Amino acid sequence: MAQLSEQEIEFITRCLREGKPLPDSYRYIIPFESKKEYELTYADKEREEDILADTFAVPLQPVKTFGSNGDGWANMLIFGDNLQVLKTLMKMKQEGKLKNADGTPGVRLVYIDPPFATRQEFRGSQDQKAYQDKIMGAEFLEFLRKRLIFLRDLLADDGSIYVHLDWKKAHYAKASLDEVMGEHNFRNEIIWCYKGASEAKDRFPAKHETLFFYAKSQLTSFNYDAIRVPYKDDNKKPAKWGEGEIYEKHPLGTKCLDWFSDIPSFMTASQAKEIIGYPTQKPEALLARVIKASSNPGDLVLDAFAGSGTTGAVAEKLGRRWIMIDCGKLAIYTMQKRLLNLKKEIGNKGKPLKAKPFTLYNAGLYDYQKLKQLPWEEYRDFVLKLFQCRDEKHRIAGVELDGYLGADDVLVFNYQKYKDAVLDRGFIDDLYSILGDKIGRRFFIIAPAASVMFLEDYIEKGSTRYFLLRIPYSIIDELHRKGFTHIKQPVSEMDVNNTVDAVGFDFIQTPDVECEYYLGEPKGQVGLGHSGRGAVIRIKKFESNIISKKPLHYENLKTLSMVMVDYSYDGEVFNFADVFYAEDLKKQDYEIRFDSNKLDGQMMIIYIDIFGNEKREVKRLKDFRSKGV
Ligand SMILES: C[S@@+](CC[C@H](N)C(=O)[O-])C[C@H]1O[C@@H](n2cnc3c(N)ncnc32)[C@H](O)[C@@H]1O
Repeated sequence: MAQLSEQEIEFITRCLREGKPLPDSYRYIIPFESKKEYELTYADKEREEDILADTFAVPLQPVKTFGSNGDGWANMLIFGDNLQVLKTLMKMKQEGKLKNADGTPGVRLVYIDPPFATRQEFRGSQDQKAYQDKIMGAEFLEFLRKRLIFLRDLLADDGSIYVHLDWKKAHYAKASLDEVMGEHNFRNEIIWCYKGASEAKDRFPAKHETLFFYAKSQLTSFNYDAIRVPYKDDNKKPAKWGEGEIYEKHPLGTKCLDWFSDIPSFMTASQAKEIIGYPTQKPEALLARVIKASSNPGDLVLDAFAGSGTTGAVAEKLGRRWIMIDCGKLAIYTMQKRLLNLKKEIGNKGKPLKAKPFTLYNAGLYDYQKLKQLPWEEYRDFVLKLFQCRDEKHRIAGVELDGYLGADDVLVFNYQKYKDAVLDRGFIDDLYSILGDKIGRRFFIIAPAASVMFLEDYIEKGSTRYFLLRIPYSIIDELHRKGFTHIKQPVSEMDVNNTVDAVGFDFIQTPDVECEYYLGEPKGQVGLGHSGRGAVIRIKKFESNIISKKPLHYENLKTLSMVMVDYSYDGEVFNFADVFYAEDLKKQDYEIRFDSNKLDGQMMIIYIDIFGNEKREVKRLKDFRSKGV
């Protein structure tokens, strides 16, 4: 527990006396002996303080800005595990970089639609299956709770959060939400119901989903006039109880109730224009209602499980600013495409709408070449963040150091200034002779791997271990006593919405890909029934280049996740038309077949591995050689 100053004690006493709520920042400082009447317990439930402290923040590396933003705000599309990204966004909030239209710090609205792994391949007895189901349940809850803790802290003091779930896990999640958000902040359980065919024979067909709506505090306001439902013509009559609904006379329509029955799911032809093809895509009308009710133009809206980007698309249309995060490459490219092809009206109708500038960031999987090209101060700032160091220049025995990792000193090796210098044993000897026993038991040096001339993770001198934090590869495991886990990309459509829990960071390693590109129908295949000739891409070799301390070996094609294709690549923006999942490709001998007429000028093909690394190829028709039909 942190020590409270006299002024703080006085301030708290005054608040209590005047019946005012205490600011959020006191939550972890005051030693409450809280005995809850009931609480949700499950295996491996971590303490909130530990979650907040132990989560890595991953710096954001800008990849590309779409549209020009001058020096102002650009909306943010972030590729990475949302937990690590949320911690980074928390820091941005603390630095005053996230503000709403009225200047309040934080985001005004959070909407999330987290996935629950549906495909569970269990072998073994029924008992084992039931047991596995429980584990999956607890793991999912903890996965969600961790994110909710950060989302709560990211919200502005008058913000709102909506958590979209289905009937399978909604009730557990409600208990978790009550704990994290405070039961008194619970505002609504919204039931979104729709129609559609069902094969259910042993139960009522499930045709609803649930959205839990929580306010951050009593300060949160709600724009109920903005979401009034227009009267149907014959309903324009004075207020009265009618047909089970309450009608009141209001020029804008009737109040929207906590059950939405007027938003179809994607079954109706009227929504054809809106369907992107991303599994679990939600209707724009649903998001429009949430965004109008709980934010104002210019406010920040955050979706940490963005998928096809419905939240961002609707936020654009309603003049809000947005931040979207997803750990799937397919989601990122889907969102990029969607944002660059927006239509003004909800439901993707009407005239084209040019999206406000937005920047795509990598968070956790970085481009080393880009990092190396940064000016020194930016490089230094980035790498300190990468290793969770505090940026605090200080001097010991005349040596300028860059910051701290915990209580230990950190030096960022200036490879740009001393171009020919290398970091060898002599360098460590020199440091030791100057610093001697003026430093602690651990001393950290961040340096490009290529500058380091020895293989050990650390060198011991006197009572100090001089640790090397190499870029791109490092000893993250030992450092944080946490296993490093990669982000995972799906290998089939079924997996697209699986949860991902990644820890740490890595650098992009282009996979080795060898393909044959040829014209003509592949052997043993029937014609494609199209006018042009068949064009075929046959993947012969696909190998990932993952750097790891333990040698990893994957068989050929085992690490392929998917192949995405833009048949008319404009040389600027990848606007994919087709996606081929590894599991499907395997069934067709790793052949991608398409009508050669589709190829318009040049095409771009992106081969993606399960770790999110890409190999990009640009091909023209002439690159496809003829082969016997
Ligand atoms: C149900 S979908 C969201 C669909 C979205 N509401 C829409 O309208 O398209 C859930 C998304 O969460 C993403 N996801 C899962 N785990 C994640 C994580 N740890 N970090 C970021 N995104 C994650 C998945 O890649 C998937 O795209």
